Amino acid sequence: MEFFDSLVLHQSQEHIALLNYILMVVYFIFLPFSGLMFSGTIISVYFKRRGEKEGNKALVHLAKEIIQISTINKNAGFILGVAPSLAILLIYIQLLHSSGSYIISFLFFSFMIYLAGVIFVYLYRYTMILDEAIVSPVKSGSSLQINEDLARLISSNEKTKNSSGIVGITLLLIAMLLVFGSISLSINTNRWNEVQNVFSLLFSLNAWLSFLFFTASSFTLTAGFILFRYFYWGKNGVEASEEIGKLLKRTTVKIIFVFALAQPLILLAGLFLLPDFSLSTSVFYNSVISVILVFLALNFTYLFLREGGARLSGYIFILFICVFSTGVVKDQLAMLNATTKHSVLLNTEYEKYIMELKEGGGAGDFSAKGEQIYKKICSTCHKFDQKLVGPPYKETLPKYEGKMDALVSFISNPVKINASYPAMPNQGLKPNEAKAVAQYLMSQYKK
Ligand code: HEC
Repeated sequence: MEFFDSLVLHQSQEHIALLNYILMVVYFIFLPFSGLMFSGTIISVYFKRRGEKEGNKALVHLAKEIIQISTINKNAGFILGVAPSLAILLIYIQLLHSSGSYIISFLFFSFMIYLAGVIFVYLYRYTMILDEAIVSPVKSGSSLQINEDLARLISSNEKTKNSSGIVGITLLLIAMLLVFGSISLSINTNRWNEVQNVFSLLFSLNAWLSFLFFTASSFTLTAGFILFRYFYWGKNGVEASEEIGKLLKRTTVKIIFVFALAQPLILLAGLFLLPDFSLSTSVFYNSVISVILVFLALNFTYLFLREGGARLSGYIFILFICVFSTGVVKDQLAMLNATTKHSVLLNTEYEKYIMELKEGGGAGDFSAKGEQIYKKICSTCHKFDQKLVGPPYKETLPKYEGKMDALVSFISNPVKINASYPAMPNQGLKPNEAKAVAQYLMSQYKK
């Protein structure tokens, strides 16, 4: 996509390394939050459905609290989800341009779908809150008068509440699959040219393993977070009756056991399937650390189940955050190893670009470069002998005869001159580019 190419800056090796570190930091925000939102919504919808089926209000209330906890607050979706996901797209554009792979397009679609998913999840959150605050009291005969408007509000709230959760989950699922497909494709440079549509993107065991690891880590993280909020931080707002407390404990511990046990298996499988060139000792040790952390967390969960104890729930949560982070670091390390070759290419391009600039800065002949800039940029608005958007050069240039500096200064920073034309927009040229095009124009206009 050409539009994306226009966003690209030239990078040196240092810039590329810096971009990779920024990418890692952004993933540290984006992935845990998305995981929390994704699995939190699933758990919430599960409790809501079960509560409605059994006519158990306490469960529906729990569902509302879980979606509230796991979406944090009304701005979090944007700050911790959408903005980082846009940042990831922009960074990949910088890192992978001219690589010939479709990763950037995949990430672009993933971003759009993710955005829609976040909107639906927050819609679900709002309708759940509204339901408990207004709709339920009205239905159970509070003193509020039901007029037509209110009845309409209630029925539309009901509909949105029942569909938005599922839609949100589905959209997030697709978006995350695309993200992990892209991450694993970016690791596997051999496939860059061959993968051109979503099906072949997802025809990758590695992508699915990354996605599964993400899902498993999300569930353990979310379960750990819920435990932590109820049993450690409980005094700050979230309160559970004894019955709900027990149910919550049972469910979250179950989730932790199932998904935490899956994690080491997924990691091992991933290590065996990763292409050799992206496998380094650091990737390997990283996976080993993940596994150790998972077992530590499982151990604490077991203790928690037997003895309870608020502090343990805190440890469990922190451990699962660490497990999640090791997953992020692992993918990034693999990507760094795999894209070294492409980084070298980008760096060579950069050096060539610098060389060109330097040559342009000397006293030599810039007319080739000047002509290029004129054709690419200026000629959309200027001709030599005809009025276009701007005045013909034949009219304006004579006054710059012998005043090259004034011309260069106008081109790099145009000011308003002639009342019968609009002002010329700044073309953002670098000083020696402005100089090159100025020389070219002066050498041409008299011809
Ligand atoms: C988007 C249209 C647009 C583009 C692109 C554009 N110009 Fe212009 N240019 C104008 C307009 C409009 C004016 C008249 C401004 C005025 O008189 O205030 C102008 C005026 C000028 C003048 C006359 C200044 C004077 O003293 O009267 C020069 C020289 C010039 N442009 C050079 C360039 C060069 C070199 C480029 C390419 C790097 C360029 N322009 C790109 C619209 C454009």
